[in-house]
Amino acid sequence: MLSIEKITPNIGAEVSGVDFSAPLTQPVLDALYQALLDHLVIFVRGQEISPKAHMAFAQSFGDLDEPHPLYPHVEGYERIVKLENDPNTPPDTNTWHTDLTFKAEQPFASILIARQVPPCGGDTMWSSCYAAYDRLPEGMKRDLEGMEAVHDLGDFRNSFAGDRDGKTGKARLDEAVSRFGHMVRPLIARHPVTGRKFLNFNESFVNQIVGMTTIESNAMKLWLANHMNKPEIQMRFRWSPGALAMWDNRVTMHFAVADYLPQYRCMNRITVVRDRRAQQKEAAA
Ligand code: SIN
Repeated sequence: MLSIEKITPNIGAEVSGVDFSAPLTQPVLDALYQALLDHLVIFVRGQEISPKAHMAFAQSFGDLDEPHPLYPHVEGYERIVKLENDPNTPPDTNTWHTDLTFKAEQPFASILIARQVPPCGGDTMWSSCYAAYDRLPEGMKRDLEGMEAVHDLGDFRNSFAGDRDGKTGKARLDEAVSRFGHMVRPLIARHPVTGRKFLNFNESFVNQIVGMTTIESNAMKLWLANHMNKPEIQMRFRWSPGALAMWDNRVTMHFAVADYLPQYRCMNRITVVRDRRAQQKEAAA
């Protein structure tokens, strides 16, 4: 029997009564999907989840993302990213971001499992883009409606800096820029399943507000980033080994707090590109 306890009024819920040591049944998977739509990020603690079970869980929600261009993967599982950080490989996900909004197909969800966590610190924060929209002044909602923004590699450019694998940093960056390009997305969007409006902005990947000069766009970006950086629309999760988080990447941002070095932290992540249930619903309509 699943039990779901909200973490904050706007975002996050902890789920108990799930056991990953055996395959999850369809009703349990459907209930978890509904909890995800309702709470945007859900957590299950104290599980022993093998890479195989992690894969099966992720595949039950949709197709998986291609292997990550930079991060290593779990041996034998190229779709499971190994996020492993220590003083030699410092973390680089400590900015507010929604995963991969610069790609043509923005992922639906990510499923992160804590494998080894520092004795303290290394929390992850999430924020609700629904609540960010709801809290906009009415005039701002009207002004932003219909406006668009260019999303590109943004902060991710830094990951391609430096010479590696026989290529210069410049060549690696040139390659990444032409491979990933950019996407134009509306600033106010609707969730494809719930239909609810959200503020479709993240400071890591939005480069330019379309139709504004760079200086105007920078001022607007700063206003939006500040508007979204409010504890009232955020939550913070303290990890324990075997804890799992799944977030709806369409309407959330997250920030991995990088306060734990020189301690070691290791997480496994799978990204689900398409929401199978949403696709099925759309095909049936
Ligand atoms: C991520 O940005 O997906 C990583 C989150 C984390 O390591 O807590």
